[in-house]
Amino acid sequence: MPILTTTFLVGFSMTRHYLMCRPEYFSVEYAINPWMDPDAGADREVAIRQWEGLKSAYEALGHRVSLIDPVEGLPDMVFAANGALVVGGRVYGARFTHPERAAEGPAYLDWFVRNGYDPVHAAAFTNEGEGDFLTLDHLVLAGTGFRTDVVAHGEAQEFLGRPVVSLRLVDPRFYHLDTALFPLNGHNVAYFPGAFSKGSQEVLRNLFPDAVVADEDDATVLGLNAVSDGTHVVINSEAAGLQLELKRRGFEVVPVELSELRKSGGGPKCCTLEIRE
Ligand code: ARG
Repeated sequence: MPILTTTFLVGFSMTRHYLMCRPEYFSVEYAINPWMDPDAGADREVAIRQWEGLKSAYEALGHRVSLIDPVEGLPDMVFAANGALVVGGRVYGARFTHPERAAEGPAYLDWFVRNGYDPVHAAAFTNEGEGDFLTLDHLVLAGTGFRTDVVAHGEAQEFLGRPVVSLRLVDPRFYHLDTALFPLNGHNVAYFPGAFSKGSQEVLRNLFPDAVVADEDDATVLGLNAVSDGTHVVINSEAAGLQLELKRRGFEVVPVELSELRKSGGGPKCCTLEIRE
């Protein structure tokens, strides 16, 4: 019987493929979200160490990590989630809101082309990849309000052939969807309601009556910027309440320390672009 249980769990927890970018040129030198303070800056050496910890955590879980070369002059390129959205092997490219990050779009697209992905679509509308698009089994949740243009939601739906559900973000601290919500598995999510408009809160309640609802304390340490493989949740170590609730629901919590990257408004998910073949 124990053998059967183990087999079931291993089968359920799928191996993932993540794309990451070492924070070799990471810094906080401009402010495009309320977390960023160029006067305070950030410690790159610490950021690199913490990022290595995240990468090791994925590898210890058996996940595959691919790397894209960092580009000098692009201090936010470490936030790989923003580089694209990949579903069923189709690559929908990012088109950044701020000129400071604009060159990241082509850099990520190029990586996918060079690695043989097809089709690769250069988006016509502003969107920040998996920062604002989160994929479940039968739909894609899409954020708008601060970065991604709502028109890009339709463009992504047409390109991917998956239904895309638009959600409106209203709190500038949670400027990307992935700072306020993460998929627990293919059919359920955890989220912080305060980040969303009234209408979008209602949509989330309707779609996910069984969701993990996080509070502001967990949201303000970017606890919702987490990565779940359906069994394990890699999450900022400070998100204590949320970790407890996840354990209660049967998830295995893997806490990571990414305080230095949070000074740019990023957490584990921001550093992680999932490649869904
Ligand atoms: N400093 C970056 C920005 O404001 C952080 C991006 C975080 N990425 C994310 N997927 N939420 O664009």
